[in-house]
Amino acid sequence: MIQKNDETDHGEKTRAMNETIGTNTDVSMESATASQPTSVPASQSSQAGNASTGTQEPFDDECVTPSEPEGKAQGKHIGAVVYFSSISNNTARFIESCGFPEEGINVYRIPLRPKEAPLQVREPYILIVPTYGGGDISKALLPQIRKFLNGHKNRSFIRGVISSGNRNFATAFCAAGDIIAEKCHVPFMYNFELLGTADDQCQVRDGVRNFFLNAQSSQAEHR
Ligand SMILES: Cc1cc2nc3c(=O)[nH]c(=O)nc-3n(C[C@H](O)[C@H](O)[C@H](O)COP(=O)(O)O)c2cc1C
Repeated sequence: MIQKNDETDHGEKTRAMNETIGTNTDVSMESATASQPTSVPASQSSQAGNASTGTQEPFDDECVTPSEPEGKAQGKHIGAVVYFSSISNNTARFIESCGFPEEGINVYRIPLRPKEAPLQVREPYILIVPTYGGGDISKALLPQIRKFLNGHKNRSFIRGVISSGNRNFATAFCAAGDIIAEKCHVPFMYNFELLGTADDQCQVRDGVRNFFLNAQSSQAEHR
């Protein structure tokens, strides 16, 4: 169940960790803002724009080789997380401390620099990204993240988003999560500040694991 703006247990942090896998509609990430969500109908999905070029050309990623995870799932593989972290590396350190591979979860990192090979993910994943923009919600999503999500195939596998930020940015705190949830039609599952706390790590690790386990159970029931 989606618990947007849940103020009971964990304030605004707890979002939808128990949400079953939802649908998502292809959308252009270009000009995405939280205050002005732009939903593109599925019928227009092939026209999704490429934010990296600013054109309306579909981003053709149908025939590319899938990327290898940075952290490979150990034991039974149940799902994946994709994350971005800038040079300050806060999100990378948070991801490391969650120990996803030990939970059977592949970990992929969106490249920092344009000359690095683009990330191509071909399995369901939860996206974990920091917010940028310095308080300007229209710039909250970094170009690297937009470029990744503008890949038609990449975007088709997103199942939820978790965002980090700094509370000093007030209304723009974790705005990247709101934008991605709105544009990709997936639950905004959780937010945390900077490196996160030990409690944040537990909530995210357990939440992501349970999300994928629940999804597997639901799939098994429908067979
Ligand atoms: C230039 C800059 C702009 C930022 N803008 C925002 C913002 O608008 N909202 C927010 O919640 N956090 C903002 N932050 C805080 C980052 O999201 C936070 O430091 C995050 O932990 C960075 O993660 P990373 O080190 O993995 O890149 C900003 C940080 C920087 C350096």
